[in-house]
Amino acid sequence: RVDYAIRPKRLAEYIGQPRVREQLEIFITAARGRDESLDHTLVFGPPGLGKTTLANIIAAEMGVGMKSTSGPVLERAGDLAAMLTNLQPGDVLFIDEIHRLSPVVEEILYPAMEDFQLDIVIGEGPAARSIKLDLPRFTLVGATTRAGLLTSPLRDRFGIVQRLEFYDIHELTEIVTRSARLLGVETDHDGATEVARRSRGTPRIANRLLRRVRDFAQVRASGSVNAEIADQALNMLHVDHHGLDHMDRRLLLAMIEKFDGGPVGVDSLAAAIGEERDTIEDVIEPYLIQQGLMMRTARGRVVTRQAWQHFGLSPHDQALDAT
Ligand code: ADE
Repeated sequence: RVDYAIRPKRLAEYIGQPRVREQLEIFITAARGRDESLDHTLVFGPPGLGKTTLANIIAAEMGVGMKSTSGPVLERAGDLAAMLTNLQPGDVLFIDEIHRLSPVVEEILYPAMEDFQLDIVIGEGPAARSIKLDLPRFTLVGATTRAGLLTSPLRDRFGIVQRLEFYDIHELTEIVTRSARLLGVETDHDGATEVARRSRGTPRIANRLLRRVRDFAQVRASGSVNAEIADQALNMLHVDHHGLDHMDRRLLLAMIEKFDGGPVGVDSLAAAIGEERDTIEDVIEPYLIQQGLMMRTARGRVVTRQAWQHFGLSPHDQALDAT
């Protein structure tokens, strides 16, 4: 992936998330000062906000190596044991989607995190043997979309817990400007702002849209990006003026047209739009909630007045076709 080239590698290059940056800088400096490894760190938040990037930055700032894996990939106890016994002292072990670890793998992780001990059973039946191995000290960095998805014994074993928030337009404009410079795309401030405004508060989306806007500018114009070119390119991509994409609009319109604005349960919504419940909860609705377009209530999801207005509707209108 070319993404790699534009990812920030050090904390000083990382834009936004000021609280996360401030805290990590202190914890990393302190751990380094004591010549210790950093405490295990859990990073959570919606996709695309920089969880993997932060894990890489932690390793770089600590001056250690990093090994990466993910919850669903670690199927058996032995898969995790192989990762753990491959670590160099101080290394970061990054586990993405850590909420998807199987219970047997999670069991192995507890003593590894707490006592740097590997407790593993080899063989079966009467020939089964339990072996204990000392592991090097390491830092587990776990990433997940919602902290609430973790079992509490796992969550409790992280000494540092950081929540990533959606980026504001100024931060995203800075990110787009930086990426444009690294990609060699000529972009003026209003062009970068337009891409930022329509990126759902998410750097991964901003960087993806920047690449598509660059293509559009190259083929349909002089190659440089200004607000007008960005607007035309983003309209072509069906990213609306609020930055909502096709799925966002489908979800809101289903709530309005099929459920009269709600309240509606998330499973009914998932069935109505043919999406996984997890995708709605982890990917689509966090941004819509943050933008004040919908709410989660005890009785289900409801759209706000602002969502009706977004489609030029009012809560008393007949449902109209607004796709
Ligand atoms: N690219 C993606 N996320 C970024 C961030 N937070 N800061 C700088 N560049 C980024």
